[in-house]
Amino acid sequence: MEYGCNGCGDFRTSALSIRNVDGNTVTDMRYEGYRIYAGKPSIDPLPAVYLNSESEADTLEIDMADKVTGMRVTLIYTAFNSLDVIIRSARIENASQRPADIDRAMSMCVDLPGMDYDLITLYGRHCKERSEERRPLAHGLQGIASKRGVSSHCQNPFAALVSKNADENSGEAYGFNLVYSGNFEFCTECDYSGTSRILMGINPTDFTWHLEPGESFQTPEAVMVHTSKGIGEMSRIYHKLYNFNLVPGKYRTEKRPLLINSWEAAFFDFDTDKLVSFAERAKEFGMDMLVMDDGWFGKRDGDCSGLGDWDVNETKLRGGLGKLVDQVRSLGMQFGLWFEPEMISEDSDLYRSHPDWAIRIPDRAPMRSRYQLLLDMTRQEVQDYLYEKISGVLHSAAISYVKWDMNRSISDWYSATLPAAQQGELPHRYVLGLYALLERLTAEFPDVLFEGCSGGGGRFDAGMLYYCPQIWCSDDTDAYERTRIQYGTSMIYPISAVGSHVSVVPNHQTGRITPMETRGITAMAGSFGFELDLQKLSEEDKKTVAAQIKQFKEYGPLIHGGKYYRLSDPFTENSAFWSFVAQDDSEVLVQGVVFRTAPNMRRKALRLAGLCPESRYQDTASGEIYTGAALMHGGLLLPQTWGDYCPVMFP
Ligand code: DGJ
Repeated sequence: MEYGCNGCGDFRTSALSIRNVDGNTVTDMRYEGYRIYAGKPSIDPLPAVYLNSESEADTLEIDMADKVTGMRVTLIYTAFNSLDVIIRSARIENASQRPADIDRAMSMCVDLPGMDYDLITLYGRHCKERSEERRPLAHGLQGIASKRGVSSHCQNPFAALVSKNADENSGEAYGFNLVYSGNFEFCTECDYSGTSRILMGINPTDFTWHLEPGESFQTPEAVMVHTSKGIGEMSRIYHKLYNFNLVPGKYRTEKRPLLINSWEAAFFDFDTDKLVSFAERAKEFGMDMLVMDDGWFGKRDGDCSGLGDWDVNETKLRGGLGKLVDQVRSLGMQFGLWFEPEMISEDSDLYRSHPDWAIRIPDRAPMRSRYQLLLDMTRQEVQDYLYEKISGVLHSAAISYVKWDMNRSISDWYSATLPAAQQGELPHRYVLGLYALLERLTAEFPDVLFEGCSGGGGRFDAGMLYYCPQIWCSDDTDAYERTRIQYGTSMIYPISAVGSHVSVVPNHQTGRITPMETRGITAMAGSFGFELDLQKLSEEDKKTVAAQIKQFKEYGPLIHGGKYYRLSDPFTENSAFWSFVAQDDSEVLVQGVVFRTAPNMRRKALRLAGLCPESRYQDTASGEIYTGAALMHGGLLLPQTWGDYCPVMFP
């Protein structure tokens, strides 16, 4: 029952199903033995939570075997000593003399004795990622999945089961998050007896894996968190774990650069002079880095062509990349640039020379999305080509940052190199190919900050976080929408991981006009940067931007290093409020947005959380002093608001 198997008496959805050579899928794993040891095993080549010292966690491995087929499973559980976290995965080995095929191999299976829980998941779409959805568990199957080849905008590989009364600060919460960037499935099955089975792992749809005798298959990891202190505490456990045990070492503590990105400032319409002028302005405001987004390579003046041709477009960048980077660096700014490595445009030199490198079915017109196709990342020559191109560019100039974009879901699954019976391996092999390339590049350029992206936040997951300490959260930079998107994202992912920028109004996605202060406050609850032409700002907005940058320099360490509390729910309330509390509880920064103002509104008292009740906290703007208990039980009196999307901040 610990890893429910298929076809031998447990009629619920199984964690494991193996097709034997004779075609039957009955799998019956029985306990054989166990080991407990300090530390955590590697599950190479998959990204995984790592330990900083062996004493941080212990691992239990349980061996199981099917005596008839000879297949074996090792269930791996790593339990952290000072965090309520258990990490699970499974390794399936063909210890028989005959080949076999795995049809389903989940990362975890948990049977909870009861079904009195609510299920929380994060659904969405492009520009509206990770909206929280809460529903009661019911008899039968419920769940979420992606079969888009990426973890997706539509469902995040996260779910929580929470007690009916659970809120931010109290109640039980069990969190489940997959360290994986491809097709996934999470499901609950409540049976006639009221038991809830919970499964999470690679999506069995479009999946098979062939095992010859002696071969084994390792599932990705599922990170399970438990707390009885509410949904907010579940999030803080994930934040702490991912900040210290998942993101690449250097950026756990390193300050993230405050950057200006060219995309919403210029789209494809830029040249060296324009970029240098962006950098000059940004430097005057105290920013750290210029990022040149899409459009710097090949024939790329729009989104119909050029992907795959990673050679500098010297018509736009006269004198080449080196010259631009030198000019930007001579201003005292760092330089970063955009790639979309996994893609190929049919109108590209790469496609003209290697049409078979694209994922498509011979003789069938491929589905295009943003006019582009995907490269077959399973092929070594494709990985090598991308490695040579990207590393060549990164070696050619002093580049400090890479934005790794991926702008479409995957369809037309077919690899020219896989035998017919193994085409079902392609979705997982694609992800392995992506990870292998990321591994090579991040190892070779440990000082380069990689930021993930996928048409906004279409691949915001723990697998990508292992390589990319921050991920562009959404193409929707509208401050109001962002309060919701970032609220959902904060369920699991740390604030420092949330790529967020201030952009112009009317907003490019919604047409909404919000005050500059509001855009600053919402972008600060993330990696913080700008994505607009600073020169076009009004004098008043310029002053506001300068003040925001000063604030972020002061509060950035608290925002990225503190404990995050959600103080109101932007999906159900007229406001979004959140706070950052120092790890030693000595400081708190409260930020938020009141969406609609009405005349003669009663001033609301906002209850804070996570403070030391006896300590005294001073509002540095008004000089007022309150005890932590007063702020948590009585609350902080919010100002009278004026106008819609009104920013509020209490340092
Ligand atoms: C999608 C990303 O989310 C944007 O930020 C931008 O990089 C574009 N792609 C460029 O094509």
